[in-house]
Amino acid sequence: MQKSVVWKQKSNIYSNIKIIAKQGMAMQFANRSIISIQDFTKEEINYILKTSQAMELVAKTGTNTLKGKILATLFFEPSTRTRLSFEAAMQKLGGTTIGFNDVETSSAKKGENFVDTIRTVENYADIIALRHNLEGAAVVAKEYSKVPIINSGTGAQEHPTQALIDLYTIQKEKHQIDNLKIAIIGDLRYGRTVHSLARALANYNVELFLISPDALRIQKNILKEIKNKISVTEKQNVEDILPKIDVLYVTRIQRERFPDPTEYAKLKGAYRIDQKILKTAKKDLIILHPLPRIDEIASEIDQTPHARYFQQVGNGLFVRMAILSLILDTTK
Ligand code: NCD
Repeated sequence: MQKSVVWKQKSNIYSNIKIIAKQGMAMQFANRSIISIQDFTKEEINYILKTSQAMELVAKTGTNTLKGKILATLFFEPSTRTRLSFEAAMQKLGGTTIGFNDVETSSAKKGENFVDTIRTVENYADIIALRHNLEGAAVVAKEYSKVPIINSGTGAQEHPTQALIDLYTIQKEKHQIDNLKIAIIGDLRYGRTVHSLARALANYNVELFLISPDALRIQKNILKEIKNKISVTEKQNVEDILPKIDVLYVTRIQRERFPDPTEYAKLKGAYRIDQKILKTAKKDLIILHPLPRIDEIASEIDQTPHARYFQQVGNGLFVRMAILSLILDTTK
C-alpha cells in the first residue's frame, strides 16, 4: 500500500475513534488502571478490541500521539512478550520507556520495599506496567500510585491484557466470539492467563470446556463465578470433546508456582497436543497459547493451519497500543 494511502486511512481511523470518544465512551479509559479483566464491562472490552483493530494500521507507520509520555515497565518476574510488546507499543505511539526486568539490578535487591519503589517510579513515568510474583501487588501499587497501573501478570491471579489479546485473536481468526465452543487445557489452577480469559469469555455466549489433571483444576470460586454466566464443563481428557470445539487454548504447567517441586514432577508431561491427537479435530480448529510453550504443543503443529499462537503474539502489539492510547491520549 502507498504511504500516503496508509496515512489517509490512519487519520480516518483516528477521527472515527475520536467520534466514538466524543460520545463519551473513551473518556472512561482516561488515566484508568487495569487490575482485573473484571474492571471492564463487555462494551468496554468490545471497544478495546475495536481500537486494537484500528491500531493495526497505525502500527504500520507509527504515530506521535503519545510524544513526551513515559511508560515504566517494572518486571519483578521474567517476561519476553509482555514487556517487549508494551515497550514496542509505547514507541509506536511516539512515547518512550524506562524500567527494569531484573530485580537484581533494582533497589529491591537492597531491600527497598515495594511501595517505596512505586512511590519513586510514579515521579518519572505517566503509566506503570507491573509484573510481580505476589498476588495483590497490582492492587497495592494502584493504591499508592498517582499514575495508572497495568497489571501485567501478578502471581497466579490475573493477566488482564493477555486476555484482551486472546479475545482479539479469537475474534480476528474466527470473525466472532459468540457461539463458539472453546476449550482451555493445562494448568488452570496456577495459570493467571486462564483466570483472566475464563472471566473475559463469560461475557460472551460461548460454551467453555476446562481440561486439566485433577490437581490443576481451576479454583472453585472462579468456576462458580463463570458458571453463573455461561455453560462450563470440566474434563480430564481433551480427546472426547476435540471433534466439536472451535478454539483450543493451551497453557504450560506453571512450575514456579508449585509449593512442592515433587508435585510438579508428577504432573510434568500430563498432556500434549500433537498431530495424532488432532486427527479428530475440526479442520478449522484454531490453537492458541499465551506462550512460553514448553512441551505441551508438539512443534509439528506449528506448520499446520491450526496453529495461531504466533499471530496471537503479533496481536499483542496492537492490543497494547490500544490500551496505552486509550489510557494516556488526552486529546481524545
Ligand atoms: C504468561 C504469563 O506470564 O502468565 N505469559 C505471557 O505473558 N504471555 C503465560 C506463562 O508464563 O505461562
